[in-house]
Amino acid sequence: MAFETIIVDVEDHVALIKLNRPDALNALNSQLLSELCTALDEADANDKVRCIVLTGSEKAFAAGADIKEMSEKTYVEVFTENLFGEVGDRVAAIRKPIIAAVSGYALGGGCEMAMMCDFIIASDTAKFGQPEINLGVIAGIGGTQRLTRFVGKSKSMDMNLTGRFMNAEEAERSGLVSRVVPAKKLIEEATAAAQKIAEKSQLTAMAAKEAVNRSYELTLNEGLLFERRVFHSMFATEDQKEGMAAFLEKREAQFRDK
Ligand code: HXC
Repeated sequence: MAFETIIVDVEDHVALIKLNRPDALNALNSQLLSELCTALDEADANDKVRCIVLTGSEKAFAAGADIKEMSEKTYVEVFTENLFGEVGDRVAAIRKPIIAAVSGYALGGGCEMAMMCDFIIASDTAKFGQPEINLGVIAGIGGTQRLTRFVGKSKSMDMNLTGRFMNAEEAERSGLVSRVVPAKKLIEEATAAAQKIAEKSQLTAMAAKEAVNRSYELTLNEGLLFERRVFHSMFATEDQKEGMAAFLEKREAQFRDK
């Protein structure tokens, strides 16, 4: 499908999805969100894709929801259309791993979009924030919930109440991002991480993603039981036999997703 607000490139088992509204710092309008959800569904369904990288431009991953598009909406309109209600569910339904590669601004819905991905690799220029309070609203797709789980209550309150931005170093220190790389190397590093994941058994990668995500939903004991059952189930796969045999035979594993 042809897109106008994103660019999709599939190479070496990695789908690179680039948000592309440069005039609006990739502000998330309804067209972009709809195209992004379609592109994610297509990547999830494409046998050639084993991992997804979501990125923006050097200046902005995304500067938030499109303020122009929503500024005049009424309560009845946003409630009735369930503004931004669908995107979280659509991203959560993607079973292949998604890496957010963030450079520049990741603000409001942009920060929330990055947090919906499985992990975030940031460039040293990245700036994260939930500045919605300056617009007379609060975060709407995870900024008060996911951010709090990532960085704890104190920092999340600080970000949501003052609207201040967090730089890449602070974001890494706080556990919001998994690593920080030089801006010029962001796509190279994120793609390399995605290719590392693509080399694994896809079955196993999807199971690991599911298990880590359950940790947000379950008590520790329920989560540990879920993990153990999924771990046990991996012994029904050829890839478990191959992975362990390869280790014992001191060779590279050849996974077949079976
Ligand atoms: C619409 C936006 C935008 C946004 C930037 N632009 N952010 N348009 N929605 N969120 C547009 C500007 O209007 C401008 O267009 C162009 O992009 C360049 O932006 P500038 O402000 O001129 O750039 P700069 O001075 O470098 O400042 C960058 C910035 C600032 C600090 C990121 O743009 C900014 O504060 N943006 C808003 C950030 C924000 O409040 N995000 C939260 C949105 S609410 P023109 O046409 O004037 O040149 C939100 C709610 C989430 O996300 C709820 C669920 C999704």
